[in-house]
Amino acid sequence: MIDYKALMVQAQKAREKSYSPYSHFRVGAALLTKSGKVFTGCNIENAGYSATNCAERTAIFKAVSEGEREFEALAIIGGKEGETADFCAPCGVCRQVISEFCGNDFKIVLGNEEKFEIYKLGDLLPFSLTNKDLN
Ligand code: THU
Repeated sequence: MIDYKALMVQAQKAREKSYSPYSHFRVGAALLTKSGKVFTGCNIENAGYSATNCAERTAIFKAVSEGEREFEALAIIGGKEGETADFCAPCGVCRQVISEFCGNDFKIVLGNEEKFEIYKLGDLLPFSLTNKDLN
């Protein structure tokens, strides 16, 4: 059984590291691998706005660069600086990046430590572009 609440708590801890001096919108993510490890990430903004990296992609890139490619679930928590995080939907680019490594049943946990919902990637991103489309 996946401990989704514990994963959300790790996402919240990662949110504390958010570097978001431009938007003041702080996001944390925690990615559970099939081998049981957790990789966390936060959003990292940049004065050239488009160079910003979302929390989800930070976590995924950390994991993949450490040799992990099989994932079970991803918890995401975000909200305005100084406010209790409520619900933060992953952006389209992050959904596409998740779909590179995860199938339609991959679990995405959205909300905060007190209240969260579990979604399937296939519901959040139907018709994603996959390697099959490139053949
Ligand atoms: N952001 C994330 O890190 N993840 C999301 O799912 C939504 C948006 C970041 C990007 C930017 O630093 C800030 O939140 C505002 O969009």
